[in-house]
Amino acid sequence: MLAIKNLLPILLSCAPAAIAEVIRRNTACNNSPSLCSKSYGEITHLGAHDSPFLRDASTGYSVSGNQFYNTTVQLSAGVRLVTGQVHKNNNDWHLCHSDCKLLDAGTLESWLSEIKTWLDGNPNDVVTVLLVNSDDATDSELATAFEASEITQYAYTPSSTSAPTSWPTLQELISKGTRLLTFVASLSSNSNAKYLMDEFAYIWENPFEVTSASNFSCLPERPSTVSKDIPSALSSNRLPFMNHFLDKDIGLGIEEPDVDAVATTNGQNGTGNLLTAAQTCKSAYSGRQPSFILVDFFDKGPAIDVVDELNNVTDATGRVPVPNTNADDNSNSTSSGTYVGLLELVDEVKNGANPSVGNWIWAGGDWLSVLGGGVSI
Ligand SMILES: *[C@@H]1O[C@H](CO)[C@@H](O)[C@H](O)[C@H]1NC(C)=O
Ligand SMILES: *[C@@H]1O[C@H](CO)[C@@H](O)[C@H](O)[C@H]1NC(C)=O
Ligand SMILES: *[C@@H]1O[C@H](CO)[C@@H](O)[C@H](O)[C@H]1NC(C)=O
Ligand SMILES: *[C@@H]1O[C@H](CO)[C@@H](O)[C@H](O)[C@H]1NC(C)=O
Ligand SMILES: *[C@@H]1O[C@H](CO)[C@@H](O)[C@H](O)[C@H]1NC(C)=O
Repeated sequence: MLAIKNLLPILLSCAPAAIAEVIRRNTACNNSPSLCSKSYGEITHLGAHDSPFLRDASTGYSVSGNQFYNTTVQLSAGVRLVTGQVHKNNNDWHLCHSDCKLLDAGTLESWLSEIKTWLDGNPNDVVTVLLVNSDDATDSELATAFEASEITQYAYTPSSTSAPTSWPTLQELISKGTRLLTFVASLSSNSNAKYLMDEFAYIWENPFEVTSASNFSCLPERPSTVSKDIPSALSSNRLPFMNHFLDKDIGLGIEEPDVDAVATTNGQNGTGNLLTAAQTCKSAYSGRQPSFILVDFFDKGPAIDVVDELNNVTDATGRVPVPNTNADDNSNSTSSGTYVGLLELVDEVKNGANPSVGNWIWAGGDWLSVLGGGVSI
């Protein structure tokens, strides 16, 4: 799921409707009453890949954006896993896509605060955060941001340092107030912040960086100890994590989210479609459904319908539809504004920044030097 190797309120107009809504929400967990008694690892959580990296007006419709709507909108619409890459920037920890010069979505603390505010307002919901630890932040460094955002008040601390045979139910997590599960890829030690779980001790993933709709695979890729070995992955008790997003190879090793294909990628039926892929994997996993499904442009498909289908949810409640605004208007993605981030990189290179690699790409009317010989955006 890494994109780089290195790396609302509800307005209720009348009283009877208000009462009915309150009752339903109190008995629903992650939008459905049927999920309360299910274990955290048994259901499928919809994940927004690179959640804070937006392709909207705020980023000049950056081609480095993986989502049209921000994390708050994602969570309100039913997303329950949000991922992002943590990079060191000016001695602070930021969420940046591949490189802070390409797309800087602000500090980790501020993003965690946004999630914390959402958790405050949604007491029956369990949320998972997965951080890609691109610049090897220590547990203490990450914990500083977690504590400053006050999201630690919701943090779940595992009872074991390896994958458990079973996880608490959503209702247990909600009742104990431990509604935030945090995984980090990777963490050498969490002795100073036990709620930071080293991802690959608890989870295995299929491949990412897929550029052809026919190339999605159910085989485990990471951690290497279970690579290409489904029986080992399953018997390790790790949770199956299904990456399902398509990149477009735009040449010279650069990949960007394939937004044009998203109706298929997040759709239901046929090669490269999300439901078909999830059912194929579930079958390959002896009936075990993926615990997480990670997608780009989550509102397309819509991907949540696939997750509801896997979770046998027919009574979803309390979701807020994505705003009916211009965020998913791709017309600007091909304009020069799109390449603002890339052009900044070009400027850096022109100004003498270390063009360590000989790959160049013509982007937005200028030449871009590819840092590291394989930047995925
Ligand atoms: C998220 O997006 C919505 C809709 O565009 C906007 O109203 C809200 O202010 C944004 N929230 C944050 C925290 O950026
Ligand atoms: C599809 O996967 C195969 C096997 O991994 C690989 O050889 C091939 O290059 C991939 N095709 C594309 C278009 O990515
Ligand atoms: C999926 O494909 C099958 C066979 O091609 C078709 O019968 C079915 O109606 C399709 N379902 C949806 C939801 O498109
Ligand atoms: C949904 O139903 C299928 C088929 O009965 C079952 O395999 C699966 O475990 C169920 N999933 C959930 C989360 O209830
Ligand atoms: C596209 O960009 C133009 C110029 O920046 C702007 O005026 C317009 O509102 C944008 N379109 C959308 C749908 O955001």
